Parts: sequence; structure tokens; C-alpha cells
Amino acid sequence: MKIGIIGSGIVGRVLATGFLNEGHQVMLGTRNISKEEVLKWKKENPNGLLGSFQETAQFGVVIVLAVSGLVAEDAVNLAGKEHFSHKVIIDATNPIAAIPPENGVLKYFTTLEESLMERIQQLIPEAKVVKAFSCVGNAFMYKPDFNGSIPTMFICGNDEEAKKTVTNILTSFGWETEDLGKVEAARAIEPLCILWCIPGFIRNQWTHAFKLLKK
Ligand SMILES: NC(=O)c1ccc[n+]([C@@H]2O[C@H](COP(=O)([O-])OP(=O)(O)OC[C@H]3O[C@@H](n4cnc5c(N)ncnc54)[C@H](OP(=O)(O)O)[C@@H]3O)[C@@H](O)[C@H]2O)c1
Repeated sequence: MKIGIIGSGIVGRVLATGFLNEGHQVMLGTRNISKEEVLKWKKENPNGLLGSFQETAQFGVVIVLAVSGLVAEDAVNLAGKEHFSHKVIIDATNPIAAIPPENGVLKYFTTLEESLMERIQQLIPEAKVVKAFSCVGNAFMYKPDFNGSIPTMFICGNDEEAKKTVTNILTSFGWETEDLGKVEAARAIEPLCILWCIPGFIRNQWTHAFKLLKK
């Protein structure tokens, strides 16, 4: 598939490399293709393409949104809303506010009644937005190694086919997927990032992932 990754931060670069390893065509989108970390990524991934946000959104059949939550809507507008229509959009963002955590607990600019994913879906109503990759650190997004135990990625979204596509991607990346339903479920999935980060902030423990046990 053609994968367009909007955002060249660590999440964008890790996912871009993962998709390339799985045999997809990948464009990494950034506002500045001459940034040091972007050039390094290109050198290490010669098959990967670089483009503007707009070129990347046009290129992708599947688009990954991997920008700071504070500017997620700006990034979609920069890329051109029309380029998202009818496509599968993987939303990896979290609505982390620009204020420090309190005793290791991150602050969000959203509420429990409205997630960032819902705002994004409203901005691009014809896009098939699926929340994924938001509840784990970038070091574990691709082929997480937990001594044989497969961690759980929580996803949600309004389009069933899009969630099947994302589930197949997650399976190839080494995850089991738990589908929590429609877009409103992002109100519960996005705060999992707060939970994931607490052990990191309070005792520098960052090497974990969630697993849903079932009977
Ligand atoms: N870091 C993690 O391990 C992790 C794990 C799970 C989820 N997430 C979520 O994934 C997203 C990306 O995280 P990250 O750590 O890779 O990087 P980040 O620092 O949160 O975001 C970096 C990206 O945001 C873009 N950006 C910054 N200001 C912008 C603006 N004014 N307009 C448009 N785009 C702008 C940058 O674009 P350019 O490419 O143009 O510089 C860059 O690609 C975040 O929402 C984060 O909460 C992160």
C-alpha cells in the first residue's frame, strides 16, 4: 500500500520505517525536508520518500497522523482536508497540553466528553479515521518484544472496513488488536497514554505495554 505519514517526529519516523520493512511504499511528510533527523532517516531508509504534508496526504492511500496533538488540526488543514476524503487515517496523536505533568500525570487539553480524535473526524468527515498506536511508546510500536507475550493495541473508529485494514497492519507490526467501537471510544483510549507515561515520569520505567486479559 501507499502510506503517507504526516509528521516527522520520532513516531512518524519509527512507523515509516516499520511500514517500509513490511514492503509498503512510504512517504514521510514534514514542513522541512532538510531537518537533520529527516535527512538521517532518508539516509537509513533510501527507499522511503520525503514530501510536504500536502504531497504526503495526496500520496497516501492510508495516511498516518503523527504530529503533536496541539497542532493536529493545523497539520490536517496544511495538508489539505480534501486529500483525506474516503481514505483510512491512522490517528496516533494524543492531546497533551503544553503544561508539565503533575506528579507524573500528563495534562490534556481535551475533556472526557470530547477526544482529539472526534475533533479530527469532524474536521474531515469523509475520512475513515481510526485511532491506533497512541497508547504505547514509540520504541514498541513496531515488532514489540515482550518475551513472547503479544501486547494489545486499542483502536476505535466509525468505519468497519478501515478498522480491518488497521487491524491487519497492527498484526503485521506484532500487535493484537482490541476494537473498542466508534469514535467516542477515543475518550477512553487517548487517556491510556497518561497511564502509560506515569511509571516513566515517577520511576523512569518506560518499557511496558498494555495487554487485555480475557477469559
Ligand atoms: N513519542 C511517543 O513515543 C508517542 C507515543 C504515542 C503517541 N504519540 C503521539 O504521537 C504524536 C507525535 O509524537 P512525536 O513524539 O513523534 O512528535 P511531536 O513532537 O509530538 O510532534 C512532532 C511533529 O509535529 C509537527 N508539528 C509541530 N508543530 C507544528 C505546526 N505548528 N504545524 C504543523 N505540524 C507541526 C512536526 O512537523 P514537522 O515534521 O514539519 O517538523 C513534527 O512532525 C503526538 O501527538 C504524540 O502525543 C507519541
